[in-house]
Amino acid sequence: MVLSSDDKCNVKAVWCKVAGHLEEYGAEALERMFCAYPQTKIYFPHFDLSHGSAQIRAHGKKVFAALHEAVNHIDDLPGALCRLSELHAHSLRVDPVNFKFLAQCVLVVVAIHHPGSLTPEVHASLDKFLCAVSSVLTSKYR
Ligand code: HEM
Repeated sequence: MVLSSDDKCNVKAVWCKVAGHLEEYGAEALERMFCAYPQTKIYFPHFDLSHGSAQIRAHGKKVFAALHEAVNHIDDLPGALCRLSELHAHSLRVDPVNFKFLAQCVLVVVAIHHPGSLTPEVHASLDKFLCAVSSVLTSKYR
């Protein structure tokens, strides 16, 4: 998944709007994923998955902070996400299909909060970026 320079600009521009809301949007994306794709809940048996739970907020913030880091290092996603790809592939063993579900939920959350920013071009670029992140996070499976 190769991001063009236009894609990178589009992602950085829309992410500026997201950056001040990492915990709120992260929690919303996770709650949406658990609701729309309940099979994803199996990876979080130790979490309180009720609406607004402190664990979902804390984890949502971590996931969006990682995406924030990835945007800041958009020219070197494998380097920026190295530790997280080890974790997801070797320790957590999350089935790669689930990354598509989370990416879809991230896009929807951004669309809900910033409908004017999510032009079709920005939508396409953000989708490509999330695919690129997912492909790095699932690259170390064996
Ligand atoms: C942990 C990011 C996708 C399941 C984490 C952590 C981060 C993260 C930052 C915390 C690591 C740490 O504490 O050191 C991401 C990103 C994703 C992604 C950026 C894709 C955009 C997924 C998916 C699933 C998943 C699709 C499963 C449906 C988990 C689990 C943990 C975790 C179970 C450990 C939670 C805990 O026990 O605290 N992820 N993740 N992740 N992730 Fe992901």
